[in-house]
Amino acid sequence: MSHDNIRPSTQFNDEDSNRSGNPAFDEVLATRLSRRGLLRGGMGMAGAAALGGAATLAGCATASQAPLPAAVNTLGFTPVAKSLADVVMIPPGYSAQVIYALGDPLTAATPAYKNDGTDADFGNRAGDHHDGMEWFGLDAQGKPSDSATARGLLAMNHEATTDEKLGSFFIHPTGGASTLPRPAAEIDKELMIHGLAVVEVEGRGKQWGYKQTSPFNRRVTTMTEAALHGPARGSEHLVTKYSADATKCRGTLNNCGTGKTPWGTFVSGEENWYGYFFRDAKDDDARKKDKQVQALNRYGRKAGAASRHGWETGGTADMYARWNNGATAASARDDYRNEMNTFGYVVELDPYDARSVLRKRTGLGRFAHESVSFAKPAAGQPVVAYMGDDARGEYMYKFVSAAKWDPADAKPANRLAAGDKYLDKGTLYAARFKGDGNGEWLELSLNNPVIAGSSYFEFKSDADVAIFTRLAADAVGATRMDRPEWGGINPRTGEIYMTLTNNSARTSSAADAVNPRVYTDMKGSKEQKGNVHGHIVRLADASPAGSSFKWDIYLFGAEADADKSSINLSSLTDENDMSAPDGLVFSPTTGICWIQTDDGAYTDKTNCMMLAAVPGRVGDGGPKAVMHKMADGSSKTVETRMGKAPTPATLKRFLVGPKGCEITGWCETPDGKTIFVNIQHPGEGTRMADVMDPSKFESQWPTNVGYGAGKRPRSATIVITKNDGGVIGT
Ligand code: FEO
Ligand code: CA
Ligand code: CA
Repeated sequence: MSHDNIRPSTQFNDEDSNRSGNPAFDEVLATRLSRRGLLRGGMGMAGAAALGGAATLAGCATASQAPLPAAVNTLGFTPVAKSLADVVMIPPGYSAQVIYALGDPLTAATPAYKNDGTDADFGNRAGDHHDGMEWFGLDAQGKPSDSATARGLLAMNHEATTDEKLGSFFIHPTGGASTLPRPAAEIDKELMIHGLAVVEVEGRGKQWGYKQTSPFNRRVTTMTEAALHGPARGSEHLVTKYSADATKCRGTLNNCGTGKTPWGTFVSGEENWYGYFFRDAKDDDARKKDKQVQALNRYGRKAGAASRHGWETGGTADMYARWNNGATAASARDDYRNEMNTFGYVVELDPYDARSVLRKRTGLGRFAHESVSFAKPAAGQPVVAYMGDDARGEYMYKFVSAAKWDPADAKPANRLAAGDKYLDKGTLYAARFKGDGNGEWLELSLNNPVIAGSSYFEFKSDADVAIFTRLAADAVGATRMDRPEWGGINPRTGEIYMTLTNNSARTSSAADAVNPRVYTDMKGSKEQKGNVHGHIVRLADASPAGSSFKWDIYLFGAEADADKSSINLSSLTDENDMSAPDGLVFSPTTGICWIQTDDGAYTDKTNCMMLAAVPGRVGDGGPKAVMHKMADGSSKTVETRMGKAPTPATLKRFLVGPKGCEITGWCETPDGKTIFVNIQHPGEGTRMADVMDPSKFESQWPTNVGYGAGKRPRSATIVITKNDGGVIGT
């Protein structure tokens, strides 16, 4: 293999690796680093982290004045082969560097990460499971900049933590308790390791680092106060012991995909929050079987089911008790029966103001949120955003603002006030797909008589629609999809692409035009069934705020050697075969569509990956018959709509990650010359019993490439540049 890896000898394991090849730049950097005593070899902390810890490169940061390159039509790199190696593989001619990993300190006073389970103070360190991520530029004076390419903020999600039987294990000395009650000290750590981060990064060419002392650095955790906004603010169903008037709540949790608003803020989707709560086996009776019981069951919190981490068992203190969402006291003001209703939203953060209060935008609905894709706003038109609900058989959604876009709001004096204007009032829709390639957006509000008069669930107000969104989409008959993950807007066509990552529960009898495949794939001797590899659907809205669209399927995930009549419908080859598309982002600069996988099906042959694509548009293919073998031996044909099949020239693998990871999160500098990507949960397949034996870790990345102390694997952000300084992917 000729592909470059992230390797210590060539990237950042010694003093020389911090050198850019630009003598003037190196002099500034070396002077500043040595003045602070941080530029020294063999210090246990990787050079990149040392750079991040001390370098102040503002004087070097220059905004690119170069014109943006035209959108590319062909991909100009050599595809990366499938790989099971415990490193990041990228094409020849590219360089990658780790810049921000689990536990990295975010204040001057926070000690370096020892990575042996004894580290504390995660409220001032990088969280775990880096996920969606967005770039926010800074000029040399530290002011927001749309054109800065050498200094900026990465705002990102820290979704979860690697766990087995209750306890996350790499962050505790000997692996964490696996029985209840959990020790409070372990829970305290876990509460702080989830949430969001804003971290300042600086660089020049290949040399990037995060700035440990930046005043912009911020962690948001499960304990951070948030304001409830939108139609559900003040609802009886959001009243808690913490907020009797239902205007505030605490924390954000299991944040997955992200988005960037047209007014320059960060939005993040709360995904699998329901698993963190517990209510005892008698709670349905305690609630007198009210409508909340129907909703709790619909959202996956059955009475008596165990919570993911047992946080509710840490003690009587409020910080633990809030994870018991049972009706345990006389009223909702005295307990946390409604606490779970304060999660499941899109949250908005102003990354440029570390003191600003997080806002939960309830108008965008409550479900297992992934990314939020904003259509390019047009003056005088509503702001439109597309979203998916990631669970088997859940729905796709669209939000249309009541306020009309004012281009002056692209640079508002108060960014969160702009968020109030566009996200607190609007209309939510769920998608229904028809077999003929058309579809409609079904309104979820009391204006829709199907909602107002529903006998399925009692919707008394638009607050109820915002809180019990899945039930509203059930009521109108939206189409059940194969796990909607991230969406992205093609800047060339305005069309929305959404990954449908997989669905083990899809059966041939339930296959439909837009979820047309059900098949068996072998992983060694294991049979995998359903839609094992997922697909990517795309929609062309008749108008952004309109109620009709056209659709087709851009891409079917598959293994290259799979049957082309029922599985490998997109004729994928060794250069681009893939499984479980999850992250999806279009580069605003090049128009390249970046597709990332979170896969467990093809991982006998390859670790998770990122591909680059230059797709066409809805309708560039045609109808396609998909063959099914039924249980009784008969066959069935499902007709779908498929886009023009990609070729190795228009879809190819750009990156393969280390063992046990998923690839997620993507953002770029506005010149398209630097991209940031997250490697989440390397070594996830490690057993808790082996946490003291590094030889049994599934992965030792990124310490095996020289980043940081210890051998425990760490989620991390990497930065990728092209060696000739060119635009990524071209
Ligand atoms: Fe956090 Fe649906 O991925
Ligand atoms: Ca297989
Ligand atoms: Ca995801």
